[in-house]
Formats: sequence, C-alpha cells, structure tokens
Amino acid sequence: MKAVIPAAGFGTRFLPATKAQPKEMLPVFDKPTIQYVIEEAVASGIDDILIITGKGKRSIEDHFDKSFELEHTLKIAGKDEFLEQVQAITDLADIYYVRQKEQKGLGDAIYCAKKHVADEPFAVMLGDTITKGSMPCTKQLIDTYNKYDSSAIALERVPTEKVERYGIIDGVEIEKNTYEINKLVEKPPVSEAPSDLAIMGRYVLSPDIFDLIKETAPGVGGEIQLTDALSKLNSIYGSIFNGKTYDIGNRLEWLKTSIEFAMDDDMARDDLIQYMKNLI
Ligand code: UTP
Repeated sequence: MKAVIPAAGFGTRFLPATKAQPKEMLPVFDKPTIQYVIEEAVASGIDDILIITGKGKRSIEDHFDKSFELEHTLKIAGKDEFLEQVQAITDLADIYYVRQKEQKGLGDAIYCAKKHVADEPFAVMLGDTITKGSMPCTKQLIDTYNKYDSSAIALERVPTEKVERYGIIDGVEIEKNTYEINKLVEKPPVSEAPSDLAIMGRYVLSPDIFDLIKETAPGVGGEIQLTDALSKLNSIYGSIFNGKTYDIGNRLEWLKTSIEFAMDDDMARDDLIQYMKNLI
C-alpha cells in the first residue's frame, strides 16, 4: 500500500513560526514532525510515500535527501552516532513529491495524489499529526480496511465543547470501537454535532475517493474538504484509535507534545522534571 502525506498547508494557526518554515518540519523534541509520520507509515508496512508539498516546503525534501557534505563532515569528525542517524533518515522509504499549486484545502491536496496512487487503496496521513500507540494507527486502519473491504478512518473522542474544531461522524457501533459511518460533518457547531467522535488525521481510502473529490464544491472556509468527499462514499468505517494523537498545528499542543516526548527519553527526563519543578 502507498501512503499520501499532505503537507502543503499554510499553517496559519502557528504563525509567525510557520511564515518561512513548514509546520511539518517543526521539531517535536528531537525530530521534525513529519519524520514521526513517515516512521509510522514504515512501521505499518508502507514503503512508498508521496508527500504533497507546496511553496516554501523545500526543507521537507532536503531533510529526507542524502547530504554528502554533512555525512562527510560527521565521518571525519568521528561522530558515528550522528552519522548513523542522518543516514537512516534517507533510507526510511521511497519518498516522492508532488506540489499542490494552490492551497485549496485538504481534499484538493489529496486529489494531487491521483496519478501516483492510481487504482489501489491508499493511506492518508496528515503531515502535522503524530500518533502514539501499541499498534501504529495506520496499521490498525489497514486491518479495518481489509476486514470490511471498505474505506476506514481513525476516530477519537473529543470533549463536546471542542467538536467545532473537527470533522465529526454519525455512525452505528458494529463491534467494540468500530463504527459503520452514516454521515460526516466538517467542523459542526456544538448544537449540530451528531456525536463526539472526531476524525483525527489517518485514513485508508479506496481510490473511488478521487472522483468524489473532483465533484466536491468548496465547503467550510471556502476549502475543498476531504470530509465532504468522504460523506459521498458508498461505505466507510471508523475505528477508535487505541492510542494518543497529537495535533502539531496548534502551538500549545505542539509544546505539550514536545514535553511529553522528552519525558519518554531516558537522557532528558530527570533534567526536565527538575527544570519544570524549579520553574513552577
Ligand atoms: P490543516 O487544515 O491543519 O492545515 O491541514 P493548514 O491549512 O496548514 O493549517 P491552518 O489551519 O492554516 O493552521 C492538515 C494537513 O493538510 C495539509 C496541511 O499541510 C496539514 O499537514 N494541507 C492543508 C494541504 O496539504 N493543503 C491544503 O490546501 C490544506
């Protein structure tokens, strides 16, 4: 299976940090956000990845490209550990790029993948969203897709007052934590939200989605919304992700995620706890 990572958005919620650098390249503790996303794809058995980029996103390509000068310098300096890390990034997967010419929304970004994906099911992984769980989120969705022979999206329960920030589903639970979806609504007002189950940035879709995006008119925010095209699929299932999701596009979430990931690091944890104690 191939994966598509949309990473062409402007990242306006994180300005000014994202004025001249992609939000997908903002580091979470010690790695750029999009590297976590690619590592999830690889851990899910995917090794063909298409990144949707746009203007000002060059550093994403540079990050996954080979850097002869850097590797040479690290070698001469005997910094073998860093050399291994830098080389491992290049060997992660086969990565391809296509540019979204105008930032017309997530649906439009996915449409840019039509030629590369061709006629097979594919994964969509938002470039500004990291997941952490015992099983990779995308692997969980691939299993749901194979079980029901139908598109599958990852879901997460969100507090009722926050539903207007997400795509929300209406569905019937057909087995524990799996829903047959009847309706999807993008950023509904709290009073109109059909549930508290939000779409959280991971999808495995049948290629029918491309024709449906093509006939989708701009929706919320004047953007071509993937959620609107998903609503037109004949059948779609939702699976509550057995783990945690981090939206890096929101600056406070980004900061919390960096702290949480640093707490997982044996070298950083004690210093960080001491620092936070002193600060508070
Ligand atoms: P977001 O809606 O979170 O991204 O899209 P955004 O538009 O960059 O963010 P704000 O709202 O202005 O802060 C989720 C993912 O889809 C990509 C983004 O790069 C992000 O990884 N995206 C969004 C595109 O590739 N193209 C678009 O036109 C919009």
